[in-house]
Amino acid sequence: MPTLNWIGKEAVVNHDKEVPFRLLKKVKSASVGESSQNLIIHGDNLEALKALMPYYQGKIKCIYIDPPYNTGNENWVYNDKVNSPKIKKWLGKVVGGEAEDLCRHDKWLCMMYPRLKLLRDLLSDKGVIFISIDDNEQGYLRVLLDDIFGDNNLIANIVWQKKYSPQNDAKYFSDMHDFIVVYAKKKRNGNKENSGWNRNLIPRSEEQDARYKNPDNDSRGPWKAADLSVKRMTAKDIYPITTPSGRKVLPPKGRSWVTSKETVEKWIADKRIWFGKSGENVPAVKIFLSEVQQGTVPITWWDRKFAGDNQEAKQELKAIFNKENLPFETPKPVRLIKRILQIATNKDDIILDSFAGAGTTGHAVLSINKDDSGTRKFILIELEDEIAKKVTAERVKRAIENERYNSGFEFCELDKPLFNEEGHIEEECTFEQLATYIYFTETSTNLDKKAIDRHLIGDYNETEFYLLFKEKGKNILNKDFLKKINKNDKKKVIYADKCLIDSRTLDKLKIQFKQIPYEVKVY
Ligand SMILES: C[S@@+](CC[C@H](N)C(=O)[O-])C[C@H]1O[C@@H](n2cnc3c(N)ncnc32)[C@H](O)[C@@H]1O
Repeated sequence: MPTLNWIGKEAVVNHDKEVPFRLLKKVKSASVGESSQNLIIHGDNLEALKALMPYYQGKIKCIYIDPPYNTGNENWVYNDKVNSPKIKKWLGKVVGGEAEDLCRHDKWLCMMYPRLKLLRDLLSDKGVIFISIDDNEQGYLRVLLDDIFGDNNLIANIVWQKKYSPQNDAKYFSDMHDFIVVYAKKKRNGNKENSGWNRNLIPRSEEQDARYKNPDNDSRGPWKAADLSVKRMTAKDIYPITTPSGRKVLPPKGRSWVTSKETVEKWIADKRIWFGKSGENVPAVKIFLSEVQQGTVPITWWDRKFAGDNQEAKQELKAIFNKENLPFETPKPVRLIKRILQIATNKDDIILDSFAGAGTTGHAVLSINKDDSGTRKFILIELEDEIAKKVTAERVKRAIENERYNSGFEFCELDKPLFNEEGHIEEECTFEQLATYIYFTETSTNLDKKAIDRHLIGDYNETEFYLLFKEKGKNILNKDFLKKINKNDKKKVIYADKCLIDSRTLDKLKIQFKQIPYEVKVY
């Protein structure tokens, strides 16, 4: 498969592995409600995604991101180029001296690559990612995604009508659309429903349903009339149909009836043929609402009529913040994200947006939950200090208040790295945080916090994992502790500061001692 090369690629291809693992610190004053499990994280998404890994790896059902398009417009609150001071600093650190020579596409690719890798790892095998983008980077993005997700996992390249009025001062063409590129973590394997991503149908709209009426009070409910003739000349299907009033009707010239005489007679007997109120009309066949597919297959052309447009998004934000000046220039409309959620999520899924901006994804999740009594959760990440609290969190908070959503969110800051500069575990790290991290690095799966039983943090593949980390100076694997471990034949891995048991006894009891912090794997 062709691959993409750019300056700085070598420095970033495995960079996701080098990102330090940071702790998350809840900011109570900026959070709303209690234990909603929705999260808004302030910080660089590279570190935030890494911090989420021990908790959410393989658990996210749908990711929507709307990264900087790299248009060169730098007059916004956030920087649309990859020239944000924070990202510039990060590029200098990661790419080194070469960073000075990067062109704008190189920078964008360096920024996106490690982030997309972490996003892929967070997706469940039944998950999917939707990425908004325009022509500045769409071509490169597709090749990057082919590389990271596999070209066989491309689902669609949606065209969204972001504007209605053409821009008459455009130099060449007036740009009326954005793309939304869709990749599955794993495409479905043939018809096996349980393998890989399954898309939902789009629920039928009221407008679509309104076309079904019930003029004859049919007990099967509303129906609409469809033509009984087709432009197909099947000689045997050209025959007269007798109306209730005795009139004989032939199909129009050049057409035949849609099916045989016998079938039409059965349909007449079953009151499936409609001859109009008078019983005189050309026959039509009834299509019952109860018998049609309960949704429509999503299409790749997303008209502003059903997905909203940029103008609608700005109006939404103005209304929420109740002022003329927009607090954020490039929001997406709630209807656009809701359409994605309709196609890609079920009622209890987790949705992630790591370029959160004005928090539209959070709003859309709350809104769809209200529509279908769902319990979906969202995780939003926003880098900029001026946006995360004042725009992202504030917007979601106002949406909860204004639209009376029965929900809330935890606002978190990225805290210190788990390991400090001397390689020691950060003092503020809690037992649960370290347990979650250790269990993840040992098993590559997420810890079930409810299953923690004092020092026993989990059981995986016939191995029990224990952690002594509760009281400084007392985290010692000694004879007293041996009395507390389960008496069974399973292998045991015990993390502690010190071990006072001789190796023969450890071997006999199938215990492997791992010293904190030196033997805690750096993920
Ligand atoms: C195009 S906007 C997203 C708009 C959003 N979809 C909405 O509806 O409001 C991109 C956002 O990503 C943020 N961002 C850029 N780089 C980031 C990073 N490395 N980590 C987290 N957020 C980042 C920007 O500050 C900006 O708010």
